[in-house]
Amino acid sequence: MEEIDQEKLPRHIAIIMDGNGRWAKKKKLNRIRGHIKGVDAVREVVTACRELGIKVLTLYAFSIENWQRPQEEVSALMGLLKEYLVKEGEEMVKNNIRLSAIGRLEDLPQDVLTTLRETMEKTENCDGMILNLALSYGGRSEILHAVRGIISDLKEGKLREEEIDLSSFQKYLWTGNLPDPDLLIRTSGESRISNFLLYQIAYTELYLTQTLWPDFNRKELLKAIADYQLRERRFGRTSEQINGIGT
Ligand code: FPP
Repeated sequence: MEEIDQEKLPRHIAIIMDGNGRWAKKKKLNRIRGHIKGVDAVREVVTACRELGIKVLTLYAFSIENWQRPQEEVSALMGLLKEYLVKEGEEMVKNNIRLSAIGRLEDLPQDVLTTLRETMEKTENCDGMILNLALSYGGRSEILHAVRGIISDLKEGKLREEEIDLSSFQKYLWTGNLPDPDLLIRTSGESRISNFLLYQIAYTELYLTQTLWPDFNRKELLKAIADYQLRERRFGRTSEQINGIGT
């Protein structure tokens, strides 16, 4: 069992859940079976994060580019998402988990969007952990959305040009008031960011694992957190400055 230091927990963990298709292929199953198993991994990881005391968990569940997948796969993913929200809604309330979502949510099928909104409303007073789903999400689109929001507020006189700084800019992102991720996990051996949280991961620690998402579990999560806890986060400063040695 990995030793976890409760004092040094990442506040926000973001995950690129990759490898569902490869998991299914290895087992000579349809890709959709990989996604179904992927939902079980989502459940296990959400529970583990809540029990550990992680404050924010962002999951890359569907990218803007994913709409280009075969229609059958897109429908299956949307169906799984809706089923997850319906099944887990009460559980989230019981476990004090607030659901939030980032992305071009208006692209989602109407029934999925309605279920998503209902679950977000149902959990809006929960304050134990935020489960943030990235849906029809793209980092570049998010930055563009922020720029458009700023232009619109400038035009309407709600914002003055001199008020635009890093702190006000980040409020216009879909992640709004969420802290930046401390740890970004990507499964299945790829070393890419794939248009995920481009602005927010400036100083995020990356953890890449060969494990395919359907095989990712509590133990794998603890391994990632233990690895994160060994890192020295310098945010551009020197090691001596971080450790208070010398000047
Ligand atoms: C990547 O595997 C995974 C996805 C595109 C979707 C992730 C979705 C889920 C785990 C299920 C739905 C989510 C929730 C929150 C209920 P891939 O298909 O790209 O795998 P491959 O690279 O091996 O083909």
